[in-house]
Amino acid sequence: MNIVLGVTGGIAAYKSVALARLLVEAGHDVQVVPTDDALRFVGKPTWEAISRHPVTTSVHEDVPEVRHVALGQRADLIVIAPATANTLARMTAGLADDLLGTTLLATRAPVLVAPAMHTEMWQHAATQDNVAILRRRGVQFIGPESGRLTGNDSGPGRMSEPEQIFARVAEMLAEPDSLAQDLDAQDPAPLAAPTVAAPTAHSTGSLSGLRILVSAGGTREPIDPVRYIGNRSSGRQGVAVAAAAAERGAKVVLLAANIEESVLAAVLDNPAVRVIPVGTAAELESAAQAGSAGAEVVIMAAAVSDYRVAGVSEEKIRKEDSDGPPTLTLVENSDILVGLVRDRRPGQLLVGFAAETAADEVELIERGRRKLVRKGVDLLAVNSVGWNEGFESRENTLHILDGSGAVVERVSGTKQETADALLDAVAAALE
Ligand SMILES: Cc1cc2nc3c(=O)[nH]c(=O)nc-3n(C[C@H](O)[C@H](O)[C@H](O)COP(=O)(O)O)c2cc1C
Repeated sequence: MNIVLGVTGGIAAYKSVALARLLVEAGHDVQVVPTDDALRFVGKPTWEAISRHPVTTSVHEDVPEVRHVALGQRADLIVIAPATANTLARMTAGLADDLLGTTLLATRAPVLVAPAMHTEMWQHAATQDNVAILRRRGVQFIGPESGRLTGNDSGPGRMSEPEQIFARVAEMLAEPDSLAQDLDAQDPAPLAAPTVAAPTAHSTGSLSGLRILVSAGGTREPIDPVRYIGNRSSGRQGVAVAAAAAERGAKVVLLAANIEESVLAAVLDNPAVRVIPVGTAAELESAAQAGSAGAEVVIMAAAVSDYRVAGVSEEKIRKEDSDGPPTLTLVENSDILVGLVRDRRPGQLLVGFAAETAADEVELIERGRRKLVRKGVDLLAVNSVGWNEGFESRENTLHILDGSGAVVERVSGTKQETADALLDAVAAALE
């Protein structure tokens, strides 16, 4: 396979020498494209000797071949390791002022990025916004990991190890689709697909040919390396929806937030369901944004934390080191569903879930209706949750509201039965 290895200006560039060697030894044709700053860390002769190709940073060499176009068009995969904060920003802006920037614009190949930088740079809102935009465009990320950084510092920002990146490359080459492309695979012109009416949903509730993104489980927001703020969602309802959608002929991507293997087992061997694990609300948001671009139907069943902890401690918070109980400051997470509704592709059907505690059904539905208006979704599945109902249990009761707030279905039963009722409502709404 033809792999372009972009290397940018961080100390972790030395680790990419090992990555380049692994790729070459696996039989790939590796073209190393460093930035000028990368060559301050590891020099051209090293890259040329390892890759067995001449190396340049400039678009003005090899002009008869128009090197960036040739590299971009020929590539089966582009890996950028390490990716600096600067390069992430340049990619987001689409800057094309060196060979790496132009190659990235001249390619349709999947792109894998392994960021490496200090924690502050990684967590800076500018970098995180850039990452979210790149994910939305289908760029895949590996890492960064938490660990030792330059100097005495440690924390999130360390580049994934060459072996981990190599393994991900092998996975991507075996299954070269990005998340959005994965959903697009059944439709050669996915973004041009005008509405959801075109696919073959019909009155029997078939979802054949549709691409459906489902989220399930519950997000976890870290407090320190060992603790988190989470919720009791088992993921059973969303997994049941994913399994039932695949049963009806849909191609499903399941964003699985902290779901136990025994629950996920219902879909793990199903070739029509691709499972993407996510942890925090921010990770779920990025994956949902990327996945929704290729989906006709989005069903967000995961229980998402409204808040995350500001200033996550890199070390375990210890009782003996504190003067008393610690104070956690929470900051609001962005509303994923509202963002998906805002950015929806034409004709996309969006389904939300509302897990509510309420004194009775009237109050439950009223709460659901208020949420429906706030979120702007097409269908809302409202379920009553409490100490002994909804979460963690195998049974559920759903009130399914349409966009006008009317209850189109009230169903009680196993989560498979409620999933089926929800998909009936989806199929009916698609008609
Ligand atoms: C010793 C040293 C180490 C650096 N390490 C990193 C790093 O790991 N990540 C990063 O984003 N920037 C790092 N920088 C800053 C980048 O080199 C700088 O932003 C540069 O403009 C990146 O250019 P490039 O993205 O075109 O390679 C480092 C700078 C120095 C001097």
